[in-house]
Amino acid sequence: MPLKAELHCHIEGAAAPELVIRQAQKYGKDVSPFIQNGAFVWNDFTSFLAAYDFAADLFRTEEDYARLSEHYLTSLARDGAIYSEVFTSPDHATKAGLSPKAYTDALGEGMERAKAKTGIEGRMIVTGVRHVGVESIEAAARFAARCNHPLVTGFGVAGDERMGDFEDYVRAFEIAREAGLGITIHAGELLGWESVAAALDHIRPSRIGHGVRAIENPDLVKRIADEGVVLEICPGSNIALKVFDSFGEHPFRKLRDAGCKVTLNSDDPPYFWTNLKREYDLAAEHFGMDEKALMATTRTAIEAAFVDRKTKSALM
Ligand code: ADE
Ligand code: ZN
Repeated sequence: MPLKAELHCHIEGAAAPELVIRQAQKYGKDVSPFIQNGAFVWNDFTSFLAAYDFAADLFRTEEDYARLSEHYLTSLARDGAIYSEVFTSPDHATKAGLSPKAYTDALGEGMERAKAKTGIEGRMIVTGVRHVGVESIEAAARFAARCNHPLVTGFGVAGDERMGDFEDYVRAFEIAREAGLGITIHAGELLGWESVAAALDHIRPSRIGHGVRAIENPDLVKRIADEGVVLEICPGSNIALKVFDSFGEHPFRKLRDAGCKVTLNSDDPPYFWTNLKREYDLAAEHFGMDEKALMATTRTAIEAAFVDRKTKSALM
């Protein structure tokens, strides 16, 4: 089994249906509109977000969040992962009445517990959400920049790519960059290659979340390869959300063969009937990745990780 590393997973989106059902019982909520037969129910990006927000709203206390990150990183380690970066959303915590600091400390506590049990290293990427709005994205950046949490090492923007413009987020990313945080932004998932080009032009990230629709423009693929921008690719998510019709049509292999730095990630695993192990298995089955190629993908992820040099070399 190849060692694995993950750069792109939304921590609220990693809560398994069983855990969400337990949280719903705790808070007296009916899960049936969003979970049926032990699986999340949705049929497009908008209804996926509704199910995701419903589940996220069931994590309200510090212990809820600590258990969530402990649970996720422990299961990842059992599948052979040595490193994980998770996207965190202070917006969800604020809605639940928890301060961004209490939320982040709690997730960090869960990550430390998972590390103590399994050895897995974890880091957090504080994330602004496009469909919540630019003010909340800047507030997330300001929090990330000043929180001084040792496990917060990056800043990102996720959410509905069809809303807002990359220009709107320049200030948030400048705040994060000045604080020394790593930079990643979702682009080229729901929208086409122009979105990836705009992200590169305006935000200058070292990594792109997804980025797969860059494949629509060969000049852009060459630019990504030449500039060494790392793609956080989530094949199972892309097929579930119908970004591509089948794994046979997924551009992972083409992007890799064109010299782009590619990594494998699970995004929101239970929503997309996946986990990091399945992503590696899918890459072996559909993208012709043998054990050596999969290990190279893990190495690419660790090289691109938002983690200090000493930890990085210990992981390599
Ligand atoms: N937030 C959680 N999952 C996401 C995805 N796949 N794309 C954009 N934002 C997200
Ligand atoms: Zn994502």
